[in-house]
Amino acid sequence: MKISQLNRPSRRDFLVGIGSLAGASLLPLAGCAKSDRLRVGFMLPYTGTYAQLGVAIENGFRLALDGTGDKLAGREIDFYTVDDESNPAKATENANKLMTRDNVDVVVGTVHSGVAMGMIKVARETGTLVLIPNAGANAATGALCAPNIFRTSFSNWQPTHPLGKVMVDNGHKKAVFITWKYGAGEEALASFAEGYSAAGGTVVRELFVPFPNVEFQALLTEIASIKPDAVACFFAGGGAVKFVKDYAAAGLKDGIPLYGSGFLTEGVLAAQGDAAEGIQTTLHYANSLDNAQNRAFRSVYRQAYESEADVYAMQGYDTALLLKQALEKTGGDIADRGAVIAAMEGAVIDSPRGRWTMSKAHNPVQDFYLRRVENGDNKVVGVAWKALEDPARGCTM
Ligand code: BEZ
Repeated sequence: MKISQLNRPSRRDFLVGIGSLAGASLLPLAGCAKSDRLRVGFMLPYTGTYAQLGVAIENGFRLALDGTGDKLAGREIDFYTVDDESNPAKATENANKLMTRDNVDVVVGTVHSGVAMGMIKVARETGTLVLIPNAGANAATGALCAPNIFRTSFSNWQPTHPLGKVMVDNGHKKAVFITWKYGAGEEALASFAEGYSAAGGTVVRELFVPFPNVEFQALLTEIASIKPDAVACFFAGGGAVKFVKDYAAAGLKDGIPLYGSGFLTEGVLAAQGDAAEGIQTTLHYANSLDNAQNRAFRSVYRQAYESEADVYAMQGYDTALLLKQALEKTGGDIADRGAVIAAMEGAVIDSPRGRWTMSKAHNPVQDFYLRRVENGDNKVVGVAWKALEDPARGCTM
């Protein structure tokens, strides 16, 4: 049976409904005995500029469930879903819906770094197990690291760290960095600047657009007047489509090469069209990675959703693999907290991205690939950094 690409919204509404009923019960659910069924909460964006990312993560997660039906390591699952809208102002309220009202065993969330900061705050208070399938906020596995918080994606420090050396090796010593002004963009810039200056490059201008605005024209005019050797950036989702198209339309594409963290060209290449050709990015995944896990994952994903998997789908899939591995070690018992955490800390995931392990701070230690857009695909040029580990600044675990 095919699963629709948009994740059966009627089913999601139904499950949110279940959550509301639970919230309306006479006793607060936190602390109540839980049923035999595993309670998994998705806190993801299903609307707004990152909607496509949230859907892909949920699709990827569901792909790793046992055979038919909603089961993981033999445990039947009830799903609870909250659309966090990539809105940091609603993050604590939304996290509380899942962690306190619905009393889930584990939250899979989220995409946006600012939302992740609010979610982490609630997770540290409630002790709920949280698996972050995208948001790169450095603090999640840095200053705010905690035994119950794991990430299966990347820290914002990671994807742009190898990019500076790549650009200097390509002869670009003066770069402008442009990004949305919020945690993910600012941390991507800081890490890029660190790696770029270590390699001998200089960031000559930092340009910011408020999230999730896509009015780039004035800043593209400024880039034209600065005439840097190259531009590096962080954009993702719908905003990345608009930025890449506007960059080409402004006549910058041929004279000033465009680089970025790989989110710039993930899941959006068809919409970007010719404007994306030649863009070089660094990321922990590429569609074209030639390994057995990736071939199988992509084929099953295509069959299930009639669309192509991207990095977000892969991260959702790996999140389920991590949970599955831990549950298999504890005989499906998620309440055996110490054993679940120990299993996740020791996890080795044979992923479509290549094998990765968990750092002491609970963030993937993984390879980063250099990719170049050729004929509408992110072609792997090589490994930009082998087994890159986030420095986990401020984490005392
Ligand atoms: C973030 O906010 O952390 C983020 C969002 C989209 C892609 C990558 C990172």
